[in-house]
Amino acid sequence: MSNEEPVKISIEDGIAWVTLNRPEKRNAINPGIVYGMVAALDALETDDDVKVVVLTGAGESFSAGMDLREYFRATDNDPAERVKLFRANGDWQWRRLRHFAKPTIAMVNGWCFGGAFTPLISCDLAIAAEDATFGLSEINWGIIPAGVVSRAVASVIGERAAMYYIMTGEKFDGRRAAEIGLVNEAVPREALRARTTELARVLIEKNPVVLRQAKIAHRIASEMSWEQAADYLMAKNDQGMLHDPERGRDAGMKQFLDDKSYRPGLGAYRREA
Ligand code: COA
Repeated sequence: MSNEEPVKISIEDGIAWVTLNRPEKRNAINPGIVYGMVAALDALETDDDVKVVVLTGAGESFSAGMDLREYFRATDNDPAERVKLFRANGDWQWRRLRHFAKPTIAMVNGWCFGGAFTPLISCDLAIAAEDATFGLSEINWGIIPAGVVSRAVASVIGERAAMYYIMTGEKFDGRRAAEIGLVNEAVPREALRARTTELARVLIEKNPVVLRQAKIAHRIASEMSWEQAADYLMAKNDQGMLHDPERGRDAGMKQFLDDKSYRPGLGAYRREA
C-alpha cells in the first residue's frame, strides 16, 4: 500500500495537475479517490491561482476504473454506505466536472477502463498518449457500463463504435480513441505533458468568465430543443456580459472595429493585465 494521498495536487503557473495516485492498483477508483476528488474539485474551483485543471494518473495508468474490491464488493452488503459512496462518485465524476467553473483537460497517460470513462468524458478536452490503452471492459467481468458510463459514451462517440466497444469489451489505443472522438488528439507519450501544457496555456489566455459561460452553455444547450436553446443561449450570453468585469465584448469590438488592431477570426482580443 502507498502511504501517499489518493489524490495529489500540484499547482504550477495557473495549471492544477490533479493526479489519481494509487499506481500500484492502477489508480482504480476507491473511496479514498472518490472523497479525495470531491474535496479537490471543491478547493480548486474557488482557488484564484488555478485557471485550468488537468486530470491524470500516477505511473502507467490513467485509471483502471472503479475498484472492484473497495467500491463494489465492499459495499455489496452495506446499502447505506453504497448510496453515499455512489452519490459522491457521481458528484466528482460528472456533476462537478461537467459544469466545473474552470476549463478541464483529461491527460490520459495509460490504462483507462470502465468507470474511468466518465471523468475522462466529463472533462472539457482530452489528450491521450498514442499508446494509452482504453476499454469498456465491463462486459468482460459480467456487468454493463453502468454508473453513467453508457450515457457519457453516447455524448462523444458515434453509435457504431460505442456499441462495438460496449459489446465486445475489446481494448483500443490512443490513436483509435482520437479517431472515434473519445479524446481530442493522441500524441507520442514523450510529448503528452508538453502538449497538454500548451493547450492549457491557450485556455488561460481567454477571458475566464466568457470561457465558463461558453462551456456550460454548450453542455446545457446540447440537451435542449432548438427553440429552448435559442432563447437560453441569448439569455446566457446576456448573463455573461453582465458578469464579465473585463467587458470583453466591448474591448473585442473596439479593437476590431475602431482600432483595427486585431482580427477575431485569427486570435483573441488583447486583454488588459
Ligand atoms: N479494481 C480493483 N483492483 C484493481 C483494479 C480494479 N479495477 N485494476 C487493477 N487492480 C489491482 C489488481 O487487483 C492488482 O492488485 P494486487 O497487486 O493486490 O494483486 C493491482 O491493481 C495491479 O493490477 P494487475 O492486474 O496486476 O496489473 P497489470 O498491469 O497486469 O494489468 C490492467 C493492468 C488495468 C489491465 C488490469 O489490472 C485490469 O484489467 N484491471 C481491471 C480493469 C477493469 O476492467 N476496470 C473496469 C472497472 S469499472
